Amino acid sequence: MFLVPVLLFVIALQPFYNLFGSPTTSCGTRNVLEEVRPSSSNIGTKEDSRCESAPVFAAGQSRRLPKALIIGFNKCGSSALRSFLNIHPDVVAPTLEIRFFIDHYSKGLEWYRRQMPPSTSRQITIEKTPGYIKTVESLKRIYEFDPDVKLLVIVRNPVSRLQSQYAHHMANHPETRAANEFPFAAWMYNRTVKIHEVVEFWSDYASYIQQAYKIFPMNQFLIISEEDLEKDPLAVVKEAEVFLGLRRVVTGDVFVFNETKGFYCFNKTHPFFSSALEDGELDASTGCMIQTKGRPHPIIEERLLQKIIDFSRPKVEELFEYIVIVVVVVVVVVVVVVV
Ligand SMILES: *[C@@H]1O[C@H](CO)[C@@H](O)[C@H](O)[C@H]1NC(C)=O
Ligand SMILES: *[C@@H]1O[C@H](CO)[C@@H](O)[C@H](O)[C@H]1NC(C)=O
Ligand SMILES: *[C@@H]1O[C@H](CO)[C@@H](O)[C@H](O)[C@H]1NC(C)=O
Repeated sequence: MFLVPVLLFVIALQPFYNLFGSPTTSCGTRNVLEEVRPSSSNIGTKEDSRCESAPVFAAGQSRRLPKALIIGFNKCGSSALRSFLNIHPDVVAPTLEIRFFIDHYSKGLEWYRRQMPPSTSRQITIEKTPGYIKTVESLKRIYEFDPDVKLLVIVRNPVSRLQSQYAHHMANHPETRAANEFPFAAWMYNRTVKIHEVVEFWSDYASYIQQAYKIFPMNQFLIISEEDLEKDPLAVVKEAEVFLGLRRVVTGDVFVFNETKGFYCFNKTHPFFSSALEDGELDASTGCMIQTKGRPHPIIEERLLQKIIDFSRPKVEELFEYIVIVVVVVVVVVVVVVV
């Protein structure tokens, strides 16, 4: 019965052509079209050593496989989404992207389970790897793993996503760090890749979501916009509580709007704060996401901005069209169920 709120929420995705500076995911990307692909060595050592030295679990705790996955999209605030869900006392989540269904599948489920933090039977584990939505193969593996798994997808205004990707690129290329040496426009006007291809690549949510809808029933998805998460994290977390079947315990006093930063941080004196801290992407002293998450975005010159908007519009409209169709279909289903 959570279909209706979930889908209404989907319709409520904010208009995309606003500019936001905001928390983003951070992993190693080389250029505008290359997929984000952190080196797999990231995962093994740290996680394994944590497993090895695993301290005494509290009573009833063990490592459990995920019941929900954040499967997309990179550079859309998926880390922030994980942090905001992790504030819930019944949610645990590994900090790293495990990339199990992409890079480590042959290691088997027992390996995957060992990457998870300890949890109690009342808690659910959520793993985030935004690359999962990108390939049919990983989606099929996920289906085989658990056909009932809940899937969270976060999308974002493509302009912000491009800005975030550029900021990420610059952070990883210190040799061009001075923005005037390699401004946003130069990055966009890459000689080997046409600008419309760059924009389309980074604004294409629709075809991946459609592809995923062919594998999983639509009611297993919660689609969130980064803009909603940023403006009203409480509403997003409440929606997720319903979607994930969690106790409805998160209230407004868990978040505090930080005027200096211009976005929401966590209330450090709230009893749930310790739960959010497990995420590892929070600065314990400020209660905000660690600094790299809110890299400053480049300013985009008016004509280039217009081009980006024009080139991304068809992809964004496709997303909204598709979601509208979904709503119609599902509303019919719900009516039938009610009758
Ligand atoms: C342009 O894109 C190509 C292909 O993705 C990439 O190899 C190259 O490094 C990019 N150039 C710049 C200047 O970003
Ligand atoms: C932070 O949490 C504490 C404890 O629950 C509460 O008393 C306080 O009002 C909260 N602060 C804000 C700004 O909501
Ligand atoms: C807001 O963030 C700034 C910078 O991180 C921090 O110094 C300050 O304590 C925060 N303010 C509040 C009210 O939490």
